[in-house]
Amino acid sequence: MKTIIEPFRIKSVEPIRFTTQNERKELLKKAHYNLFALKSDDVIIDLLTDSGTSAMSSAQWAAIMNGDESYAGSPSFDRFEASVRDLMDFKHIIPTHQGRAAEAILFSLIGGKGKHIPSNNHFDTTRGNIEATGAMAHDLVIDEGSDPKNLHPFKGNIDLDKLVAFLDEYGENVPCIMITITNNAGGGQPVSLENIHFCAKIARSYDVPFIIDACRFAENAWFIKQREAGQGERSIKEIVRDMFKFADGMTMSAKKMLLLILAAG
Ligand SMILES: Cc1ncc(COP(=O)(O)O)c(C=O)c1O
Repeated sequence: MKTIIEPFRIKSVEPIRFTTQNERKELLKKAHYNLFALKSDDVIIDLLTDSGTSAMSSAQWAAIMNGDESYAGSPSFDRFEASVRDLMDFKHIIPTHQGRAAEAILFSLIGGKGKHIPSNNHFDTTRGNIEATGAMAHDLVIDEGSDPKNLHPFKGNIDLDKLVAFLDEYGENVPCIMITITNNAGGGQPVSLENIHFCAKIARSYDVPFIIDACRFAENAWFIKQREAGQGERSIKEIVRDMFKFADGMTMSAKKMLLLILAAG
């Protein structure tokens, strides 16, 4: 077995409240078994999302003090914009407070009754924001992605045959094709570069915008480097740029494993 030592120290500790099994049963019953109706203080290990669960680096904490809160023209925004542009070539970059807020803006513009939006697996906030507009969210992940025993290297891939059939069925009522990297609602499984590029090609041939939910793009790039033929010698940055080069837009929650980017350089 190879021991992997994390290249950082974690220095803060936050106490958590312990509950008994009976208390948890009672709390779940009172919440009508709806996890969103529980108080986070009553949850010991929260597997609902990976948002806000990673420790911040010392540089990130220090950046809070250096942050400029000016109402307009803030250099904090310039830094943010430059970092995004270094990896992704989008014309407009709009910060929102969380991923779900970006989704709410996007789907209030392109969603609506009668629209159908495919993805590998929509995350629950994405599905919620789509369906709140009256549109329908559809999951088209490959069959291997729903089989826990299958060792396919990219179980987050979207099924390209299903995607083409979907586009033929719903035609002009498909306002965009989404792909989530990694596929968090499907167990955080990665999507291959080949699958992302084919998906973009299909989107282009049907003249439908291709939108990436980029929640854990750095981790997805790492899996591509490790597992995809011909990618092992490329840098994470090169792979990331390749992942986004055919995308027409993206939404992203930045509350996840960005520490990984620091660690990978
Ligand atoms: C794939 C995916 N999309 C969107 C979101 C929503 O992001 P946020 O929690 O920042 O609103 C999450 C959060 O877990 C996610 O995993």
